[in-house]
Amino acid sequence: MEIPERIDFDRVADIYDETRAVPEPFFTKALDVMERYLDKQERILDIGVGTGRFARPFQKRGFDMVGIDISEKMLGVGISKGLRNAVLADARCIPFKDKTFHSNLSVHLLHLVPDWFEVLQEALRVTRAYLLTYSQFWPEEENVSPNLLYEELTTKLGCESEPLGLPEKDLPDLVEPYAREHIGSRRETVLADERIGRLENRIYSGQWSIPDDIHKRVIEEVKSTFAGKKIRMVAHLYVFVWRIEDLNDYVSLITDESLQD
Ligand SMILES: C[S@@+](CC[C@H](N)C(=O)[O-])C[C@H]1O[C@@H](n2cnc3c(N)ncnc32)[C@H](O)[C@@H]1O
Repeated sequence: MEIPERIDFDRVADIYDETRAVPEPFFTKALDVMERYLDKQERILDIGVGTGRFARPFQKRGFDMVGIDISEKMLGVGISKGLRNAVLADARCIPFKDKTFHSNLSVHLLHLVPDWFEVLQEALRVTRAYLLTYSQFWPEEENVSPNLLYEELTTKLGCESEPLGLPEKDLPDLVEPYAREHIGSRRETVLADERIGRLENRIYSGQWSIPDDIHKRVIEEVKSTFAGKKIRMVAHLYVFVWRIEDLNDYVSLITDESLQD
């Protein structure tokens, strides 16, 4: 399957889990909260399942999860961890019949897809009850980090690393969630060198379109500011749940408006 370079997760599949891990007890609490909206007697779809970060623990808890992804390598890592029902498929054209699933998970997917609206429509087509997501907010006023400096400097040099689509964490601004659950706030002191290493290796998808010369220049500046330091990072973690009918109303409204234009 041809994957656009900017969203080709094959390149980070081997290190994805270690760089995106959600520390305990937050991860377990997020699963516990999501579980309240899922039904063990029904099928659930994880769209952009990746390495099965969420789907695999839910399968272990006895849920009938199916995952789709366009990255063969991400799915391969998932399968090596025991992920079952992993399907190589594009979220823009989900290979299942209408209303096959009770609920779906969409975690860190929609920001990668320029046609996020079509993906949302597809997600709604195959689902009956809920769409769930897990999001982390890193407020700028609480975080001074190599990542933010990298973003600021690349933007100054004309490389906007704007998301291609709509981050799920911005969806509550468009459609009121049915539930908005605060999981907790991560407060960590981390070694800046470790974060700089990740940036240098371009492990974040927002970096994949930055030209090499700009990337190198910015990394040097980030190193001169942060190398050898410890940084405090704060993230606020949420689970959002939408009812499929509320999202369908939003989609119909937007579709009707664009027909009138
Ligand atoms: C940031 S990862 C998130 C993975 C997983 N949901 C998680 O939270 O760990 C994004 C995933 O979406 C997948 N993806 C991107 N565009 C996709 C598409 N059009 N259809 C299916 N999967 C897609 C990528 O291959 C990648 O595995």
